[in-house]
Amino acid sequence: MERRRLSYGRQTVEQDDIEAVVEVLGSETLTQGPRVEEFEEAVCSYTGASYALCCSSGTAALHLACLAAGLGAGDEVITSPNTFIATANCALYVGATPRFADIDPETFNISPAEIEKRIECADGRTRALIPVHYAGLPCDMDAITWLARKHGLMVIEDACHALGASRRSTDGVVHRIGSSACSEMTVFSFHPVKSITTGEGGAVTTNDRTLYERLKTLRAHGVVRDPAVREASPWLYEVRTLGYNYRLSEIHCALGISQLKKLERFIRRRAQIADIYNEAFAGQGHMKTPPSIDGLASAHHLYPLRIDFSALGIDKGRWFAAMSAAGVNLQVHYIPVHLQPFYAKKFSCRPGDFPNAERFYAQEVSLPIYPGLDDDEVSYVADTILSTLRSASSGTSAGMV
Ligand SMILES: Cc1ncc(COP(=O)(O)O)c(C=O)c1O
Repeated sequence: MERRRLSYGRQTVEQDDIEAVVEVLGSETLTQGPRVEEFEEAVCSYTGASYALCCSSGTAALHLACLAAGLGAGDEVITSPNTFIATANCALYVGATPRFADIDPETFNISPAEIEKRIECADGRTRALIPVHYAGLPCDMDAITWLARKHGLMVIEDACHALGASRRSTDGVVHRIGSSACSEMTVFSFHPVKSITTGEGGAVTTNDRTLYERLKTLRAHGVVRDPAVREASPWLYEVRTLGYNYRLSEIHCALGISQLKKLERFIRRRAQIADIYNEAFAGQGHMKTPPSIDGLASAHHLYPLRIDFSALGIDKGRWFAAMSAAGVNLQVHYIPVHLQPFYAKKFSCRPGDFPNAERFYAQEVSLPIYPGLDDDEVSYVADTILSTLRSASSGTSAGMV
C-alpha cells in the first residue's frame, strides 16, 4: 500500500464544513453579513473574552492590535526571536521598533528574565510586549503580566499557535488562551495548519471596549457609521482614521463557525499524537521531547523534537532529505528572526545575540501533527526518524542508543 506524503501540518476539513461553506455561496450575502458576528460570538464564548474581532489573517490581526494599542515611532516592542516573522513585522508596520528577548531553553518561549534585561536597556522606550505561545504552549504569563504592570507596558499575546491551549494562573484559576485575562489583546491565526482554519483568517480578542471599537474601525477603512445621522441620511458614513480592508468574508466565517465546534476534538487528537511521539522517543540518546509543564495545557500546534545533530555527527540537511525520500516532509520552527537578512541588516544583529534561540534552531525539527493523522502514520514517522538517524549516525563514534 502506498503511503500518502506527510507534512508537519495540514487542515482537517470535513463534509459538514464543506456544506457550511456551500450554503453561504448560495446565499445573498458573501461578506459583511450575519456570520461574521456569529463567528465572533463563538470565539468569545470559547475563549471567555468579552470581545472578538475577526479579520483576514493573523498578520492583519497583529497589525490591527499594534494600531489599536497606539504604538508608533519611538516605541519599542519586545518579542521572541523564536517566532514567525509577522510577530516582529507588526511593530515595523506601525513605525515602532521590534526588539528581541531570548527564549527560555526549557519552554522555548520568551524568558521573562530576558525581557526585564531588555526593558532596562531601552531607557523607557519599551511600550509593549508581544509574547508568543510557541508551538501552542502558553508563556509564563504571570511573570510577564507582573513585568508589564511594573513598567506600565501593554501586552499583546501572539496566540497564533495556541487556540485551544489553557493555563492555570498562580491564583489557581484556569484561563483559556484568548481570554486576554493577562493582556490587552490576544491574536489568533486561522491559517490551514493552525488549530482550526478559515482558509486564511485571524482574530483579536480583548476585554477592553475602547480597544475593540478601535479595532473594528481600523478593520474597515476607518469608517464610522453614526446611527443617529443615518436615520436622516442613510448613505452617510465618515472616515475618521486611516484604516484597511482586513475584513473576513461570510464564506470564511461559515467555515470558522463549523470548525470551532470541533476544536476540542482536534486538540485531543493532537495531544494523543504528541503522546505517541513522547513514548517513541523516550530514553533515546541525543533527543529531547517537548516539555510538559504543570498548569499549562498546550494546543500542540507543533511537535518540536530536539535532536543533537552535532553530537550525533549528522548533517541536518542530508537527514531531512532522507526523511523526505521516506515520504515525510519535516519543517523547522524557527530560523531566529534576528538572523533573517532583513532584520540582521536593519538592526545590526549577529549570530550569538540570542544563543538559546540559535541553539534551539540548530536542534529543532517539527514533526507531523494534525488531527487527520492516524496512529499508523504517527508510528511510521517515529520509526522512520529513529531508523534514518541510526543509519546516518552509524558511521560516527557517537551513534544512537
Ligand atoms: C506565531 C505566528 N504569528 C503570526 C502568524 C501570522 O499568521 P497568518 O499566517 O494567519 O498571517 C503566524 C503564522 O504562521 C505565526 O505562526
